[in-house]
Amino acid sequence: MARYKVLLVDSEFRQFALLRSLRKSFFNLISSRNITNDTFKMNVQSAKRNVLKSPVINRGTWLRTISIDMIINKFLQQFKNEKVQILSLGAGSDTRAFRILPKHHKNVDYFEVDFENSCKIKKYAILSSEELCKALFITKTEEKLPTNHNEFVTQSSSLESDCYHLIACDLRTLKDRKDALPSSFDWNKKTLVLSECCICYMGTEDSNNLLLSLKQNLSQGIFLVYDPMGGEKSNESRYGEVMVRNLRTRGIEMPNLMVYNTIEKQHQRFLQFGLCNSNLIVCDMRFVYENWIPRDEIFRVSKLEMLDELEELNLINSHYALILGWWGFEFRSNLKTELP
Ligand SMILES: C[S@@+](CC[C@H](N)C(=O)[O-])C[C@H]1O[C@@H](n2cnc3c(N)ncnc32)[C@H](O)[C@@H]1O
Repeated sequence: MARYKVLLVDSEFRQFALLRSLRKSFFNLISSRNITNDTFKMNVQSAKRNVLKSPVINRGTWLRTISIDMIINKFLQQFKNEKVQILSLGAGSDTRAFRILPKHHKNVDYFEVDFENSCKIKKYAILSSEELCKALFITKTEEKLPTNHNEFVTQSSSLESDCYHLIACDLRTLKDRKDALPSSFDWNKKTLVLSECCICYMGTEDSNNLLLSLKQNLSQGIFLVYDPMGGEKSNESRYGEVMVRNLRTRGIEMPNLMVYNTIEKQHQRFLQFGLCNSNLIVCDMRFVYENWIPRDEIFRVSKLEMLDELEELNLINSHYALILGWWGFEFRSNLKTELP
């Protein structure tokens, strides 16, 4: 993927600098296998620390992945005898399709939507790997891979197989352009709409219009949304305000962070789309950690990497929401909800 991110940068100078730093981190990781001298060993360790994430971040990523996987598996299990769809909003570099399709390609059509440039990067990363093409059942690989910026910008961003569809679209426009999705997308099939850290980047009105139009146009659907929440302003940690400030220094805006800042507000938001209370599960990730994840799985992961910062983990987890809301069919999730 990184190789194609470089092609996205139009200045040759910046491409060179980016490639150099990518090579450096890669080299540091690889060479950690042949360490002889102590100074080198320390450099490698610090480079690894920069590339690898801290235990608390790893634990959060594991929780997010395992809980989303758990819901998708329940959905696929319940409807294993019919053809269903997964629509991943802002799929970015998510790799879930590579894991789901090899097992479920006979009954799942997987649609990934993102901006054009993100789709191009993903497309070329896929086409560069026989293994990834195989996982997505992509057989037509005669398309030439881009070797320079010009070729990169002029080539198409779409990628299709019988069960996988990569679609370039600005989600803010999807409500007025149902045709942005390929004709293979069936508005009458049961569809799991996944937004993993995506709608939080859209404005309040744009994200709500998108969800409302999906709810109105899909006859049977289920939203699965994972979003950060700013928390209460009065709270001592002032988590949301700090997060907004930190993100701003990196040029990132999350317009909904302080709008839907609690699970109660997220709950009200989803009721507004016409979902009924009994078909809604809204929790924060601390609740998910304590109530959904089997103890032996937590024990297994605890043994892989020690974590001292349990309070910090709880604080971070209580600032992420997991929302499930379905319509047009009964979803047998058997999962506890935090709000009555
Ligand atoms: C934080 S990433 C999450 C990627 C992926 N869902 C995951 O969890 O690994 C957010 C993604 O949403 C995409 N995105 C944000 N706003 C979008 C929009 N208006 N239209 C299409 N994609 C959008 C971004 O390009 C990015 O790939």
